[in-house]
Amino acid sequence: MATKINLSLPIFLFFLLALFSTLACAKKETEVAADPELKTCKHQCLQQLQYTKADKQICLQSCDMYHGLKHEHEEQTEEKIRKKKKHEGTTQEHDEEEESGEKEEEGEAEEGGEEEEEYPYIFEENCDFDTKVETEDGRIRVLKKFTEKSKLLKGIENIRLAILEARAHTFVAPRHFDSDVLLFNIKGRAVLGWVKESETEKFILESGDVLAIPAGTQVYIINRDENEKLFLAMLHIPVSTPGKFEEFFGPGGRDPESVLSAFGWNVLQAALQSPKGELEKLFEQQNGGSIFQISREQVQKLAPKKTSWWPFSGPSTAEFNLFTMSPTFSNSHGTLTEAAPSDSRSLLHKHNIMISFTNITKESMSTILYNSHATKIAMVISGKGGLQIACPHITSRSQTKHEKSSPSYHRISAELKPGMLFVVPPGHPFVTFSSRKENLQILCFEINARDNKKFTFAGKDNIVSSMDDPAKELGFNYPSKIVNRIFDRKESLFFPFQLPRQGRDRRADA
Ligand SMILES: *[C@@H]1O[C@H](CO)[C@@H](O)[C@H](O)[C@H]1NC(C)=O
Repeated sequence: MATKINLSLPIFLFFLLALFSTLACAKKETEVAADPELKTCKHQCLQQLQYTKADKQICLQSCDMYHGLKHEHEEQTEEKIRKKKKHEGTTQEHDEEEESGEKEEEGEAEEGGEEEEEYPYIFEENCDFDTKVETEDGRIRVLKKFTEKSKLLKGIENIRLAILEARAHTFVAPRHFDSDVLLFNIKGRAVLGWVKESETEKFILESGDVLAIPAGTQVYIINRDENEKLFLAMLHIPVSTPGKFEEFFGPGGRDPESVLSAFGWNVLQAALQSPKGELEKLFEQQNGGSIFQISREQVQKLAPKKTSWWPFSGPSTAEFNLFTMSPTFSNSHGTLTEAAPSDSRSLLHKHNIMISFTNITKESMSTILYNSHATKIAMVISGKGGLQIACPHITSRSQTKHEKSSPSYHRISAELKPGMLFVVPPGHPFVTFSSRKENLQILCFEINARDNKKFTFAGKDNIVSSMDDPAKELGFNYPSKIVNRIFDRKESLFFPFQLPRQGRDRRADA
């Protein structure tokens, strides 16, 4: 049976993928009655001669699942547009907006910026980055300031994220930052030169490596691979102006401009004991930009010497490698690897940040969980899938105060694909799931990580099961026996993304 699925699955997957990819970048799509895509999807399932009855049911179920996700997304998009329309009329009722109270224009809507963006926690690769540097051979993109996206992210406003991409055999010119930097090698083979007081220490960086670079450190980077691009994530924690960091080039000329060129000739001549003409000449030479191609010989010259690999000198290695560390948790549906700052001198410890890596097997999901203290900045580094976050903030404005004794929650959902980022604030339950085709791999910086706990709503030791029966019974206003039956589950943390069996049977005769 398994082999039979494999034979025709590619066609099917291709189809699902096409469906899924229409969810892109919060686009408006008009709803067609009885979605023809769903119809075709199901039709395809039934047409597969080599499918067994059970295979067909799985296939149909998947059509429904992905169709459901797509719908959800569209509904949210529509709601977003609706809300934008009534943007000004702030005190309207939540459920049915009559178009009557059009232009209210009550006192500077900016007050507290309460009318939040619909997707305050979702960052798209194309829409939410500024390209800071772009040369023929590489670029550096910086994620917009978190508070520029949403006031809800004030807690992490000091933190900035940059992505460096460099083509094969390139040199990323020496510079220092007025920020502490946590560098993560997403993909590629790099050498990093770290200029110390009296020498340069060289680090070999492989995919998954983490290196913490203190503010002010002169570093240069080489992509030593002959073919592959290098991708580095750099989390900047500014030490001067909150939420803002700058780079300073020492060696340079016209491009990159040397920071020394800001000084007067008299000062330079006196400090460097060289005639003006010589200095002028020196600072005129470099015009290659801050990322540029170098030859194989130059790469070899810059690389750490092979002969000195052992025993004492030679290349240093990163603080740790997130991809090869033993995982914190692992089952057949996913792996979680967490690098807690153990060394009290490390920057991770100083800034109270944990780096983690989640590898969700295809067709699987994480449990529904929340962090007690940490704000999660997550970046998809490979694979596709989805995300849902429960958020109390977004509906708060349009809610009437005395209707209920508790907040209403809004679902933020997004399609996940490589290069996308999302933020999950503490206390907010969320879930991530992978596509049918490939693993979903997510890199996370967990800010405010000390004392953080993960609490789950499903799986072993979830917080509903762990609650004493009388309290649970009162909480749900339902017999605890039934509640326990619903919430008890042997697996933890990662599950197959499957609907329960009864659901499958019901759908079979659709
Ligand atoms: C993610 O898990 C898959 C197995 O499910 C494995 O092949 C892959 O190497 C893992 N990725 C990383 C970066 O550890």
